[in-house]
Amino acid sequence: QTTYLKDYTVPDYLIHKVALHFVLDEERTEVTARLTLSRNPASLSMSAALVLAGENLTLQRIILNDGEELVAADYVQAADSLTIYNVPQQQPFVLTIENTINPKINTALEGLYLSNGMLCTQCEAEGFRKITYFLDRPDVMATFTTTLVGDKSRYPVLLSNGNKIAHGELEANRHWVTWEDPFTKPCYLFALVAGQLECIEDHFTTQSGRDISLQIFVEPQDVDKCAHAMQSLQNAMRWDEEVYGCEYDLDLYMIVAVSHFNMGAMENKGLNVFNTKFVLARPDTATDSDYEHIEGVIAHEYFHNWTGNRITCRDWFQLSLKEGFTVFRDQEFTGDRTSKAVKRIEDVTMLRTRQFAEDAGPLAHPIRPEAYIEINNFYTVTIYEKGAEVVRMLHTLLGAERFRKGSDLYFARHDGQAVTCEDFVKAMEAANGVGLVQFRRWYSQAGTPVLTVSRRYDSQAQTLTLSISQECPPTPGQAVKEPLHIPVKVGLIYPDGTIAPCQLQGSADSAEEVILALTEAAQDFVFTGLSSEPAVSVLRGFSAPVKLVMERSLTELAFLLSHDSDTFNRWEAGQQLIGQAITGLIADVQNNRELRLDPIIIEAFRQVLAQPWEDLSYFSLLLSLPSETYLAEQMPVIDVVAIHTAREFVKLTLAEQLQNALQTLYLNNHRDESGCFDAGAIGRRRIKNTCLNYLCALDDPALKNWAHQQFKTAKNMTDQMAALTVMVNNPHYARRQCLAEFYQQWQHEALVIDKWFALQAASPAPDTFATVQALMAHPAFDLGTPNRIRALIGAFSQANPLHFHAANGQGYQFLADQIIALNTLNPQVASRMISALTSWRRYDAGRQALMTAQLERIMSTEAISKDVYEIASKSLA
Ligand code: ARG
Ligand code: ZN
Repeated sequence: QTTYLKDYTVPDYLIHKVALHFVLDEERTEVTARLTLSRNPASLSMSAALVLAGENLTLQRIILNDGEELVAADYVQAADSLTIYNVPQQQPFVLTIENTINPKINTALEGLYLSNGMLCTQCEAEGFRKITYFLDRPDVMATFTTTLVGDKSRYPVLLSNGNKIAHGELEANRHWVTWEDPFTKPCYLFALVAGQLECIEDHFTTQSGRDISLQIFVEPQDVDKCAHAMQSLQNAMRWDEEVYGCEYDLDLYMIVAVSHFNMGAMENKGLNVFNTKFVLARPDTATDSDYEHIEGVIAHEYFHNWTGNRITCRDWFQLSLKEGFTVFRDQEFTGDRTSKAVKRIEDVTMLRTRQFAEDAGPLAHPIRPEAYIEINNFYTVTIYEKGAEVVRMLHTLLGAERFRKGSDLYFARHDGQAVTCEDFVKAMEAANGVGLVQFRRWYSQAGTPVLTVSRRYDSQAQTLTLSISQECPPTPGQAVKEPLHIPVKVGLIYPDGTIAPCQLQGSADSAEEVILALTEAAQDFVFTGLSSEPAVSVLRGFSAPVKLVMERSLTELAFLLSHDSDTFNRWEAGQQLIGQAITGLIADVQNNRELRLDPIIIEAFRQVLAQPWEDLSYFSLLLSLPSETYLAEQMPVIDVVAIHTAREFVKLTLAEQLQNALQTLYLNNHRDESGCFDAGAIGRRRIKNTCLNYLCALDDPALKNWAHQQFKTAKNMTDQMAALTVMVNNPHYARRQCLAEFYQQWQHEALVIDKWFALQAASPAPDTFATVQALMAHPAFDLGTPNRIRALIGAFSQANPLHFHAANGQGYQFLADQIIALNTLNPQVASRMISALTSWRRYDAGRQALMTAQLERIMSTEAISKDVYEIASKSLA
């Protein structure tokens, strides 16, 4: 049941036109698909049979060329396919297939399903086969016309892709609408939505002067939470014109927010379907980070219109072609809209905690995988985030202008086609007359390369030699790794803080920074003309997704923290500094030694606090400690208790030592503001709440009152959540009362209640496991709502290392119970939840045994889904 990239063959048949007709009903929707097909001239197959994919369908009848109904001898049905024998080979033909489906029992939320009474679809990757029999593969592209028939009261709004071309009334309180999408597309981009929806509307004028109408559809109670999403869409449309020259193509762009959704959002042509989490926002219900994510995801789906829809993937092994590129585009967009420095730090943090862990574990795969059992399991941080890093490296190597030439050529060459990662790299090469032969290895090789850097300064010759070597550890199925082409951005800084020139030996140019091309296993780079030994800032902007090993003293790191002109490396120096200190303290905890924080750390933080910072969000990142998950990544054997203890000790010590400065900073930035989302207001909230987080580590009645006051008077969710979080996480607070008040206040806002669940599930408070168990029985908990599952089970297993990894294994057993329950209900969500158990090899022998025992138990689940089977079995392998 494994699918291999090497087995790819072109489809035997092509589908040119699709006319769909739906008679909508919760339990029995009738689907009629009229397909215009022809034999694919490029196919080498000798068979005259047509094999269509289909799952959970009830077939009614099949008609060939508008003639007689086919009889039993003409076709054969299997659980996941329909084979029709002897279809015409010489000329195009029309197949009309009628079937019914039951959206109500579709708890997998793939295909056509029900969400709060609304009918909606999710077809990527292979959900269209749960709607009708089809060649459900992305290289089969057709034009779609869709007619929806439904009850006027239940389904007043009837939506599908493209433009609305006709509508009318029917007897018995029913009506119909016909939609036409003039662009060819694969069926994974098909969508329909029907329900009692309200719409907010605006418009956008493209650079060529076309007027596009923009609509956002939501459940009636949410119309007051759409303004930000609308503004985000307009910002994204403008940005894509300016930066990529990409203009929108249809006359209408629709977004629908649904509360039951397996992922974040989906870029269906002209009709995006979104998780409510990435649409709805009001100052009092959504945090600043929610606002930012909404804008990012709206942009991501919009950008797919060119990178994904107009130009799509030949097969699902090429998924990163559209996802990696589109993530890179949305990252750059958000950086331009907010703070480039902060956005880069956030993206790298996520890459290094989640993707590096994936790349180092049993599920490591290249950004272009070679095999899968269930494609839904490959919507991974590797395909998305590492894929984006690979595109970013091309951008770094070529520079913005030449990268743009490459993307222009890619769009010009492949518009309307289903292509491969190879086609993308070829366009970059051809547009710029460069060769990227070795660079291609990034697509085929898994694992995170380790760069080891050493240096030698020669005061006589005034040269600095950087010796850089690369090594990539083996990953499943790839024992031996070839050297990669790695762009290493470097800057040099003299001891007085001034920029030292970067002049490579043998080159006439001198610059403030250079991009070294590391292509061999080990290479020396010699810089000349250096009057004194400079500090070295390596891998600026995190110019490649690698681990950097370089011996640096605390003093040198402190120097870089105050002088590096690269905003990423400046922050990184601080993280290295504090990281080294915490690592030392972890060992002290493990050996029962007394804990003491090196004064150099306190001094470095004091210096950061003493400087004036314009970008307050960046400032607050400089003051933040590395997460427990990041620290765990750095340890040979993860010790969750020692990590937590050491990190809390550092937090408390810094709070004690810097209390006055932190208090002043808090008070200077505390405002009772609502509805302000400019960088200034966001920065003030962020720095203030960073201070509050430190200060609340102190058991001080006055400070307790600060948190409580902030909780009670907050006019925005950022401040309210920040206050509640410190109260829930710190043992000396009376949290029950505040949690109850919060629930009382927000019980009708599902997304806020998700926060309420997640906050408790992620708390280090000693009674958290009991709380989680109790919350499972809370009336607001529901295994049928993915957001709720992620809020409770996801937060506990993935954001609470301390309690999830309790030494007695109760966390593991709890998670396995839930995965087994979810296996039948929603396999996609079930398999995502396994990730907390996948990295079992990183823990001590006792925990390893407990974790693998639960993985084995999951493996023995009756009627195990492909999704769960693949992740659990590969985790154990
Ligand atoms: N293409 C969507 C996006 O990244 C994600 C769809 C994921 N669907 C899935 N079944 N895994 O915007
Ligand atoms: Zn995407």
